[in-house]
Amino acid sequence: MISSSVSNSNRPMTGAEIREAFLDFFAKRGHQRMASALLIPDDSTVLLTIAGMLPFKPIFLGREQPPALSATSSQKCIRTNDIENVGKTARHHTFFEMLGNFSFGNYFKEQAIIWAWELSTEVFGLDPANLVVSIFQEDNEAALIWQNLIGVNPKRIIRMGAKDNFWASGPIGPCGPCSEIYYDFHPDLGHDDINLEDDSRFIEFYNLVFMESNCDSQGNLTPLENKNIDTGMGLERMAQILQKKSNNYETDLIFPLIKKAASLAGIDYSEVNEKGKISLKVIGDHSRAISQLICDGVSASNLGRGYILRRLLRRVVRHGRLLGINDHFLVAMGEASIELMSKAYPQLEEKRDIILNELAQEEARFLETLERGEKLLSDILKSENQQISGEQAFELYDTYGFPLELTQEITQEHGRTVDVAGFEVAMKAQRQRAKEAIVTIDPTLRSTIEGIAESIKPTLFFGYEVLDRSCQVVALIVKDELVQEASTGDVVKVILDGTPFYGESGGQVGDRGMLLGSETEKTSLIVIIENVSRNQGLFIHSGRIKKGTLRIGDLVIAKVDTHLRRRAQAHHTATHLLQSALKQLVDASISQAGSLVDFDRLRFDFSYPGAISLEKLEKIENLINDWINEIHRVEVTEMKLEQAKVNGAIAMFGEKYGAYVRVVNIPNVSMELCGGTHVSNTGEIGLFKIISETGVASGIRRIEAIAGTAVLPYLNDRDRLVKELGDHFKAPPSEVMVRVIALQDELKTTNKALLTARSELISAKSAILASQVELVGDFQILVSSFTGVQAALLSTAAKQLQEQLGDNTAVLLGSILEEGKVSFVAAFGKDVVQRGLNAGKVVNHIAKLCGGGGGGRANLAQAGGRNLKSFESALKIAKSELVSLLIESPL
Ligand code: ALA
Repeated sequence: MISSSVSNSNRPMTGAEIREAFLDFFAKRGHQRMASALLIPDDSTVLLTIAGMLPFKPIFLGREQPPALSATSSQKCIRTNDIENVGKTARHHTFFEMLGNFSFGNYFKEQAIIWAWELSTEVFGLDPANLVVSIFQEDNEAALIWQNLIGVNPKRIIRMGAKDNFWASGPIGPCGPCSEIYYDFHPDLGHDDINLEDDSRFIEFYNLVFMESNCDSQGNLTPLENKNIDTGMGLERMAQILQKKSNNYETDLIFPLIKKAASLAGIDYSEVNEKGKISLKVIGDHSRAISQLICDGVSASNLGRGYILRRLLRRVVRHGRLLGINDHFLVAMGEASIELMSKAYPQLEEKRDIILNELAQEEARFLETLERGEKLLSDILKSENQQISGEQAFELYDTYGFPLELTQEITQEHGRTVDVAGFEVAMKAQRQRAKEAIVTIDPTLRSTIEGIAESIKPTLFFGYEVLDRSCQVVALIVKDELVQEASTGDVVKVILDGTPFYGESGGQVGDRGMLLGSETEKTSLIVIIENVSRNQGLFIHSGRIKKGTLRIGDLVIAKVDTHLRRRAQAHHTATHLLQSALKQLVDASISQAGSLVDFDRLRFDFSYPGAISLEKLEKIENLINDWINEIHRVEVTEMKLEQAKVNGAIAMFGEKYGAYVRVVNIPNVSMELCGGTHVSNTGEIGLFKIISETGVASGIRRIEAIAGTAVLPYLNDRDRLVKELGDHFKAPPSEVMVRVIALQDELKTTNKALLTARSELISAKSAILASQVELVGDFQILVSSFTGVQAALLSTAAKQLQEQLGDNTAVLLGSILEEGKVSFVAAFGKDVVQRGLNAGKVVNHIAKLCGGGGGGRANLAQAGGRNLKSFESALKIAKSELVSLLIESPL
């Protein structure tokens, strides 16, 4: 009888209660509770965290100090070595939680066994009659402990070989013999014939590793400094036992996800056939794995961890389709997974947006290729052939992104096989073709792109589907020369046989990113790619080698900066929305006159005679944001040009198109011919904001706008500015405007008052000046200087004085201005002018002496200069000039 020690009710323990009971049991026995480490381990020997001991490996090896002498944890783990069994057996998972207790040279075998038994029988209430233990065949010490100290019937202590009962985290590292505890669902069958591999009767739920050796790369074992304990209890397995389920999937740790998937498919788990159950179990299992992987920082790609995520995710989609779910459903599964697990792993809630976003994007990407690939595969499967050829599998892989395993799985469902060896041959052949293409480059050709283009095939572009991919180097240019290799520090232009990098065109900027070493030696090479352009069908990756050597023929991993690509995509789709909104709200005949799709903004030039009003711009912005919020799907299809035109796709005037065109269609919103990369639904754009509308040429207007994550830095800048203005004007941001207007008014009034005060002052000074007039024959001259009087006021004063003093007067005034300039004004009476004097000439002359110039009419002129030092002497010179002109000039 199984009973639960947590509650006296008949209710079995939940998964969460089992987890807590385990941790609490060991915490009470001096173990430090440790949080689960990430699924991405700090360990280069494995891609993912595969066991609870992994975070403690450096401690077991004596390289790090332990946090305490013993510890306990519930560790998130992923194993994909048994992926084919997921859903088919009762207990295989990709994602699972491993409960563990660890001793770092503290207690060892005896204590570990005693506690494991106590926990199993007293806390989890398992009947000893249901338990069987296995030990390493040579471990007599363990046999004696189980038999004599615990009292297990020797017939229920099974000796096993190293394959089963010698545990290691990998080919090298800490290891040791282990002892496992199994649950026996049929103790009634006796113990004479125990076969632990019979999983209809037994399930292993607890493994105790007596970790006392280290295994080196040659396979030699050396004793570790300490004798350690590493254990692992499968949470899902204990839940299966306690909740009396026939498999792990039906426990409360996974079943809610199965129910969710069943309801999305409109079916009932209990009624569905075996195949349907398997699909539901795969979805339940993988949904947990993919949400946790993304949460811990993995993003889908074709390599390493990214590939594991992509493969799991694509399997979920495939099994969803087998159940009849043809719509997008990963976001719903992601949401259900977050809800199910976030109590134990709150990070899931914190990363909700990232998780759901990645799921939505990957699913959309996959569905697009899946549909095309599935059609091809179903055509292939219609044939009589029992085997899918290597070429066919390779085409599915290369063109439609079908992992080989997926093709195998689908063909298996139809009772067929895949020629895997043929697939490998096709893969090699493709590499060979690329290699051959390289050697045909004529080395005597000048290294112009045109020259190279004659010798090699156009670059294949993979960047609509994938953002990283293994590609081969077919040409290398350093300082305008074709080279065989380039190394650290070199500025290079790289041409690959194919690339996921978008090459600048159609207004969209080229991708940025990196070229890395091949899968096995990724970090041996790092080339930073700063731009990618296109010429003669070739994509030219411009960058710099940060580390390593790049050679012609090398296989490299071309990895696009996904963050920047997403920004460019958001701006590109937003540009299409903008064109549609303009046509809809401003004028249907508007057409594009140019555009720029950058990482941090977009620019759209279009034909229109006048400025667009602010209200209109606001309406445009609102309409586009409505389209964004309505999450319209962006569909990309290739079709014949005529067909695209009949469908109403917008084409760029004057642009040349081939017979087949790529149509980017947002149903009922926009349809354009476009080769650019786009978001898969408008929701991904997030937000759209117009930042300016200006005229660039006659009849051409320009709108600049930002979208997606690029809006944030813009908003931050604005926000900072408004805050600074608020601080400066000592007003909350909402009142800054009122404060500025009030200050402007105040300034106007003050200026006016100042002007009045100045002119009054000048009038007063004029009266004094009038007495300084000097007589020169029949004429009068007045030369004087001021400080800080602007030219306009000086001119008024000169005119006033001249009028007051009469037609025979020449007035010349100078002023030193606050901003380090000098100003001169001359006002000559009628008689003075008649005498042949010219005010313009006089001021120009003296201004020149001060490093400036000016002029005006004969009776009134003004000029300015910058040389303050010459001011006084210039006035003196002017005065004596006036005197001599008036005396000497003949009438
Ligand atoms: N490290 C041991 C295992 O994973 C406990 O089974």
